[in-house]
Amino acid sequence: MKAHQPVSQASNEPVEFSEATMTKIKELISSYPEGKHKSALIRILHLVQSEKGWVSVPSMDKVAEILNIQPIEVYEVATFYTMFHLEPVGKYVFEVCRTGPCMLVGSDDLIDHIGKKLNIQVGETTSDGMFTLKTAECLGGCGYGPLLQCKYKFHEHLSKERVDELIEEYRSGKYDQN
Ligand code: FES
Repeated sequence: MKAHQPVSQASNEPVEFSEATMTKIKELISSYPEGKHKSALIRILHLVQSEKGWVSVPSMDKVAEILNIQPIEVYEVATFYTMFHLEPVGKYVFEVCRTGPCMLVGSDDLIDHIGKKLNIQVGETTSDGMFTLKTAECLGGCGYGPLLQCKYKFHEHLSKERVDELIEEYRSGKYDQN
């Protein structure tokens, strides 16, 4: 299996969101008072990422257009939070916490192990497009480390053996419905 860097989107052509996503976006916006629609921004970015798999510049521009705000206001938010993927990623993104408390219980070793197991470096995606490995700052489960987040699921008290199992479980689609 050969590792590769995620391929950046070649085009900056405008994007459209699906009807389902647009419906959810409109519902979200309408739940905020007039003049406060920008408050829906983070939740809209989550919807966009759910549909597209990542948040491209054209997607951010589209969100700015929908909210009637400047694109830079969307870029600032999307680039601040590591939970938004600004490059194409694999089907499953393993985000391993590497902040102090998790580091003390072996997160560095775990990151190294996952990289070797998947034959990728941090920030890379496997050539089959299944897994991306990322690191993250505190994921809010400091007493349960080492831990990783994949989509909205947390896996805690991880060992190398458990991570090996997890990789196979994700490959088999075990968590696809969760
Ligand atoms: S330090 Fe890892 S979850 Fe807080």
